[in-house]
Amino acid sequence: MFSVAIDGPAGAGKSSVARAAAKELGFLYVDTGAMYRTIALYFLRQGADLAAWKEIEAALPGLDLRMELGKEGQKMFLQGEEVTDLIRSPEVSAAVSSVAAIPAVRAFLVDRQRALAKEHNLLMDGRDIGTVVLPQAQLKIFLTAAPEERARRRVRQLEAAGRKVDYRQTLDEILRRDYQDSHREAAPLKPAPDALLLDTTGISFRESIARLVALVRERMAEAE
Ligand code: DC
Repeated sequence: MFSVAIDGPAGAGKSSVARAAAKELGFLYVDTGAMYRTIALYFLRQGADLAAWKEIEAALPGLDLRMELGKEGQKMFLQGEEVTDLIRSPEVSAAVSSVAAIPAVRAFLVDRQRALAKEHNLLMDGRDIGTVVLPQAQLKIFLTAAPEERARRRVRQLEAAGRKVDYRQTLDEILRRDYQDSHREAAPLKPAPDALLLDTTGISFRESIARLVALVRERMAEAE
């Protein structure tokens, strides 16, 4: 199987670029952030204290998380209910970094993520895919963009969806998440030593996809 690990900060366009590239390559696309978001939703609904790691760990066996990976994208199910859209809410976005910092939560997901890579050619996107989940991935990409550019893209995206947002506040949120994700103890966000950097600042969406697809094809040709 051929695995491509794609890591990088929030809002760099990882998921849209990786999803489009996977389609072009005929690979499966796996969004691991959606798994953390689903767990965050579970504990938010329970009114759990996200700082009480021991209690969260004890509650994990009761969590029924399922995914459907297919042509229509990745659907997420929590206790049998589809939550694909619900996990994108501002409440989940605000809580997910705290949930993702809990080692037991990470262990719960890493096994599932590794199992997928045994079965499929895939592009897996997250924060620790190249460093922890798939250190043997044939290709590792650290996909990023300047924080200001990520904030501008986010504002445009939300405005297109009819939501009014403040640029400064969006930028502050991005910087806060970057800090949390890269300073936590468990599997912090950082490029694997052998990752290739793909900086999409000033590069169009189409061009970013084309570069990623080219990198994968190049590496596949080398591997043959
Ligand atoms: O990519 P995203 O914004 O949907 O990710 C949601 C959160 O989950 C974010 O705070 C980082 C965290 N995450 C992680 O810690 N490890 C991953 N492999 C994927 C996401």
